Amino acid sequence: MKPIIVLFLAMLVVADVIFAQELPAGAAKLGTHRYDEFEKPEACKSCHIDIYFQWQQAMMSEAYTHHWDEIEYFDLAVEHAKKDPSFKEPVDGCNGCHTPMAYMAGDVTPPRPSENSRANESVSCEVCHTIVGWTGEVPYNFSFQTSPGRVKYGAKPGLVSPHHETKSLSLYNQAEYCGNCHNEQSPFGIWVKSTQIEWKEGPYSKENVPCQTCHMPKARGRNAIMAEEDLVAQHLFHGAHDPGKLASAVELRMHPDERELPYDATVVISVQLFNAKAGHKFPTGSVEDRIAWLHVTATDAEGRIHHLPVDRKGFTGEEYTIGADVLAYQDMGIPKGIADFPGVQRDGVPLGDRIFRMPYFDPQGRMTIMQWNTKSLGVDYRIGPRETKIETFTWKLPDDIPVGKVTFKAELFYQKLVKPVADFLGVPEDESEIMPINSAVTWIEVYE
Ligand code: HEC
Ligand code: HEC
Ligand code: HEC
Ligand code: HEC
Ligand code: HEC
Repeated sequence: MKPIIVLFLAMLVVADVIFAQELPAGAAKLGTHRYDEFEKPEACKSCHIDIYFQWQQAMMSEAYTHHWDEIEYFDLAVEHAKKDPSFKEPVDGCNGCHTPMAYMAGDVTPPRPSENSRANESVSCEVCHTIVGWTGEVPYNFSFQTSPGRVKYGAKPGLVSPHHETKSLSLYNQAEYCGNCHNEQSPFGIWVKSTQIEWKEGPYSKENVPCQTCHMPKARGRNAIMAEEDLVAQHLFHGAHDPGKLASAVELRMHPDERELPYDATVVISVQLFNAKAGHKFPTGSVEDRIAWLHVTATDAEGRIHHLPVDRKGFTGEEYTIGADVLAYQDMGIPKGIADFPGVQRDGVPLGDRIFRMPYFDPQGRMTIMQWNTKSLGVDYRIGPRETKIETFTWKLPDDIPVGKVTFKAELFYQKLVKPVADFLGVPEDESEIMPINSAVTWIEVYE
């Protein structure tokens, strides 16, 4: 190559970098743009029909309007910031990820979803396709940089469109792109969302399998009505709100330590739980809300059902990982204006069941679902990507056990929001519905 061309190309690269470096990131984006600099998703729909409908079915299009988001934001976060103004900045920051256009337009607190403002566009096509970079060592708290206008940024080089220009950036194929919104730090400097960090520490980052591989899988088709056929990134963004995505995320097997036992024996059942499908921990994301729990029962020869509590392992903080009848989440009393609020039931799952979760604690050391009010984290007892955990259940056969076959069943359930909290806040049922993840069976034979 001629030196002059090399120099020119080098200048182009430098110009790109400088351009990105100058743009504000994170909280510095507040009020730096106007709504009318961004096109509406309906403007993209006329050519990108499939992608539009995929996006519309994903939580991305509801990140501001979904019922639980509205309840937590308006009834807890905004109210909390009114009572304690030191939370105003982080609470405005909810919008930096849930409705970034509103944040960039300085429209905080945005109007309620029922007012049908542009904040309702949530994480729209334009929010994502105007991202040109991010700053910092780890992407988090909407650290992305934005440049709205005629150019739509994407992963594919050299595409031509009658409606806009296109430009490819390698960022669009990287997990860091997603990490901008899927990692979050509380005002106390605690990682309250760390999906991209979990991915980075796990096996999939080493194998170059980014978020896009599993949440935007590629299929042959057209990405626009007038485009040539190619492999196209499907905008599924399916996660905890898709029963099919959750199904079998963790695989279960189980066995007894002896097949044939006398009526007065003690049996030990082992259950293996293998996170075969998720590229991060399970559960991930809004870990303050989400739980998975293992429920094991035995059905004897007369059809009676016995519930088996899990064996304790003895690690620090284990009490938070076993279903118990205790109260928690007292800090909801602050935004709710209830003095000396006793809290609500912590788990809402059968007592003695193993819970896969990580508890979040408020500045007073009480468990919280208000991630912005999180000052410390408890034991991380979630199942890592490709990790296998083993749980055991030691069961002294009941005195009146009939001889014959005893069948054991292990079931792993999942809930997006712990039920006592959902009920207390009036969150519609679907957010706390019990989702089956997987199950396994085994048996023993009891003799005289
Ligand atoms: C008049 C039709 C039309 C409209 C309207 C339109 N696009 Fe496109 N867009 C295209 C075509 C054609 C391509 C190129 C497709 C190809 O060749 O694979 C394209 C490509 C893209 C790409 C891929 C860029 C890359 O480099 O990977 C993105 C991103 C994109 N459009 C975003 C948008 C967004 C966002 C909107 C709405 C604000 C929009 N488009 C509206 C026709 C349109
Ligand atoms: C190997 C495939 C795979 C990869 C890679 C992957 N995921 Fe997932 N993801 C899943 C599966 C399966 C689920 C459903 C089970 C679950 O909730 O963990 C899921 C769930 C989710 C959820 C919903 C969690 C919740 O509780 O609401 C989010 C958000 C998510 N993934 C984001 C990401 C991001 C961001 C990345 C990249 C940093 C990523 N995923 C990488 C497979 C993957
Ligand atoms: C959460 C961010 C996000 C949202 C929202 C989003 N996109 Fe994308 N889009 C991406 C990423 C990332 C890629 C590149 C994925 C890859 O290649 O792995 C992409 C790729 C594309 C492509 C090229 C697809 C291909 O592989 O040929 C088009 C066209 C596109 N998006 C249009 C849209 C339109 C239109 C909307 C709204 C209806 C939209 N996008 C919403 C992040 C997003
Ligand atoms: C601009 C911020 C932003 C970016 C960038 C972003 N997301 Fe999200 N994403 C969100 C928000 C906010 C939600 C939560 C929607 C809600 O309120 O339930 C979400 C939801 C999701 C969900 C659905 C989780 C569920 O509970 O069902 C998945 C899956 C997901 N994102 C994957 C990705 C992937 C993969 C990328 C990168 C290609 C990405 N996101 C980039 C903000 C973003
Ligand atoms: C750094 C970006 C970011 C910030 C800041 C942020 N969120 Fe989120 N939020 C997300 C993402 C991404 C998800 C989806 C994670 C998942 O599916 O588990 C989410 C999920 C949620 C959910 C669960 C939605 C559901 O349907 O299950 C609620 C509620 C919520 N956020 C409220 C808030 C509130 C209130 C604030 C401010 C105090 C806030 N968020 C700040 C990115 C963010």
